[in-house]
Amino acid sequence: MSTVVNPSEAPAKLGFGARFTASMVLSRWTADDGWSALEVVPHRALELSPAAMALHYGQAIFEGLKAFPHADGSLALFRPLANAVRFNLSAERLAMPALPVETFVDACARLVRADASEVPRGPGQSLYLRPFMIAVEPSLGVRPAREYLFAVIASPVDHFFADGFEAIDVWCPTDRIRAAPGGTGAAKCAGNYAASLATKSLALEQGCHEVLWLDAREHRFVEELGAMNFFGVTREPSGAPLLVTPPLSGTILAGNTRDALIEIAADLGVRTEQRPIDIAELTTGDGRFEEAFACGTAASVVPIGSVTTADGRHVISDGRPGGLTTRLRDELAAIQYGDRPDPRHWTSTV
Ligand code: PLP
Ligand code: COI
Repeated sequence: MSTVVNPSEAPAKLGFGARFTASMVLSRWTADDGWSALEVVPHRALELSPAAMALHYGQAIFEGLKAFPHADGSLALFRPLANAVRFNLSAERLAMPALPVETFVDACARLVRADASEVPRGPGQSLYLRPFMIAVEPSLGVRPAREYLFAVIASPVDHFFADGFEAIDVWCPTDRIRAAPGGTGAAKCAGNYAASLATKSLALEQGCHEVLWLDAREHRFVEELGAMNFFGVTREPSGAPLLVTPPLSGTILAGNTRDALIEIAADLGVRTEQRPIDIAELTTGDGRFEEAFACGTAASVVPIGSVTTADGRHVISDGRPGGLTTRLRDELAAIQYGDRPDPRHWTSTV
């Protein structure tokens, strides 16, 4: 059963994805008729055949984006078009039908408008939208389905990580991978997340919060961190700060937050190098990163305090959030909440 929020009873602490708003948006696709018109309906259980193909062969993709409350009372989505475009890249990889990008953005905007009174307005709070598509055709044939459901649900959120901490501790295994070249690492498909959960449990058992994933070939180069992209902070030869992040080489998700931070950093005069990052850059030597952080829609910018590898725990600088990390987090939030000019038109009022 879902928990529907009554705004007058909404607690100060929301967490992430634990409760849902009153409405959802639906559309269905069949090979014969294409997409049906969007419908805004009450958030309720879906009726699904036990033979629905998503349940068996995993044709299931999703997105994550947020609507932010602005001081003038308006609500704004952050870069919904980027999510719409990525949704279709995921659909193509999973042999699912494309959804017109206008339909994706319209569905998100309509849900935010329908449930506007449930958007939380406290510090750090927002409405997380979860658009998804699943194969619903009842069949056990191993082939792309001929019927799909597209839906958007919404959850009032604040902190992605439940316990309040300043920086996360991460575990870096060398015998588990998230994605391999030619696989689905660059798609936002449910199976990628299912395949990561047992490893995440191992990280938690060791007192860490997340998994730092290395590449599949050499188990040496940093790829992603949990369901977030990774950044390190080092120095230019001039002594100025320099951001580094793994390149979009096909095995990592092209994060919208990653992309936004690269542009925000450039505005602050900080260059970003997109290049392979050896795990040794976090653990050994004089050139070690001074700061490191993870980023994503759900979690925003999360400082990394330590990395645990087979040879022990390596604290990054003093283990506390770094100056550039904090500045980038604040600059991003200021644009998202409408407290700074938005010259790139990233925010879109619903
Ligand atoms: N990497 C993975 C695997 C993710 O699931 C996400 C979250 O969507 C990200 C990175 C960050 O992407 P974005 O900034 O678009 O939310
Ligand atoms: C997001 O950051 O939006 C994500 O989708 C990550 C996670 C909650 C799966």
